[in-house]
Amino acid sequence: MHYSTKIILIFTLLSRANLSISMNITIINNCHETIWPGITATNTTLPGGGFVLKPGETAIYTTPPVWGGRIWGRTGCSFDKNNNGTCQTGSCGTSLICTTPGTPPASIAEFTLSDTAFYDVSLVDGFNLPITVTPIQGKGECSIAGCDTDLMVSCPPELTFRSDGKAVACRSACNVFDSDEYCCKGMYGNPVTCVPTNYSKIFKTACPVAYSYAYDDPTSIITCSTTDFVVSFCSPRNQTQQCSYHDNKLVCNGSTRSKSTAYIWSLFMLFVPIIIQTQIIY
Ligand SMILES: *[C@@H]1O[C@H](CO)[C@@H](O)[C@H](O)[C@H]1NC(C)=O
Ligand SMILES: *[C@@H]1O[C@H](CO)[C@@H](O)[C@H](O)[C@H]1NC(C)=O
Ligand SMILES: *[C@@H]1O[C@H](CO)[C@@H](O)[C@H](O)[C@H]1NC(C)=O
Ligand SMILES: *[C@@H]1O[C@H](CO)[C@@H](O)[C@H](O)[C@H]1NC(C)=O
Ligand SMILES: *[C@@H]1O[C@H](CO)[C@@H](O)[C@H](O)[C@H]1NC(C)=O
Ligand SMILES: *[C@@H]1O[C@H](CO)[C@@H](O)[C@H](O)[C@H]1NC(C)=O
Repeated sequence: MHYSTKIILIFTLLSRANLSISMNITIINNCHETIWPGITATNTTLPGGGFVLKPGETAIYTTPPVWGGRIWGRTGCSFDKNNNGTCQTGSCGTSLICTTPGTPPASIAEFTLSDTAFYDVSLVDGFNLPITVTPIQGKGECSIAGCDTDLMVSCPPELTFRSDGKAVACRSACNVFDSDEYCCKGMYGNPVTCVPTNYSKIFKTACPVAYSYAYDDPTSIITCSTTDFVVSFCSPRNQTQQCSYHDNKLVCNGSTRSKSTAYIWSLFMLFVPIIIQTQIIY
């Protein structure tokens, strides 16, 4: 098993004005099904995460001030009381709490956070759920990244990933055919020779603001200064209403919605994961 990764070029990492500020990523499940988000840090000495999120539920993930990592959703999971089990898509081994990246196919939200935030959604390892990444109250070029359409509708049969006979995800061409051309390796291992293919173009058409292959160009350069993000599963990108946890308050945009439950999940601040259940209205 291998994990293809997108190459991020970071030209400048400005010195962070206040290194004591941690960042909060609010994770929302707007899907009709239960999902099990997984989190891993790029620096593998930092702990990862994983938890269940029912439809309409929200979790807050507090990162250290400088953090890089990925967040994805697992589907069709079944875990026992020891948090051991498997998922139809996105499994990180057999554990609820992830220490390794998810098994493709999975759509992935990627972050490199310090003074300036770099973020994107990658379909380089395939697609399992729509994900959008929305910065809250950021300064700079802070557009919404991600894929909000159901790519399954346009997934060709040879890429369709099935579980119990049901189409549950769309694999990347690299993952299926493992060729140099589709995987941007060998003589295709640079941005000049690795160009869009008929398969990556299907991904790009369905999800223009997500990475469709390893050397895909971001649709816009995102250089945003912010401390809060919303990672939303199955939400439209044009949705104006978003909520995020900021300075011990919930900051929301847009119209009133039904009540839902938030888990304040603060792994890094207290080292041991704790879950506090609160009621929020948004
Ligand atoms: C990874 O995190 C550990 C613990 O915070 C830190 O000591 C180490 O320098 C980090 N490594 C890198 C490459 O950032
Ligand atoms: C954990 O779950 C996997 C998959 O369901 C199973 O193969 C394995 O035996 C389980 N391990 C333990 C310790 O229960
Ligand atoms: C993509 O191109 C390959 C060969 O160039 C061809 O075999 C395949 O059928 C094409 N697939 C689609 C979905 O166009
Ligand atoms: C968002 O886009 C969807 C379809 O793309 C459309 O039906 C909906 O009206 C849009 N919502 C807003 C608030 O623009
Ligand atoms: C929240 O509302 C403000 C003011 O209306 C707007 O500038 C900002 O872009 C909105 N943020 C989101 C995430 O929709
Ligand atoms: C992040 O959330 C924590 C509570 O989990 C809160 O204490 C802190 O102020 C928040 N940080 C920011 C920058 O909003």
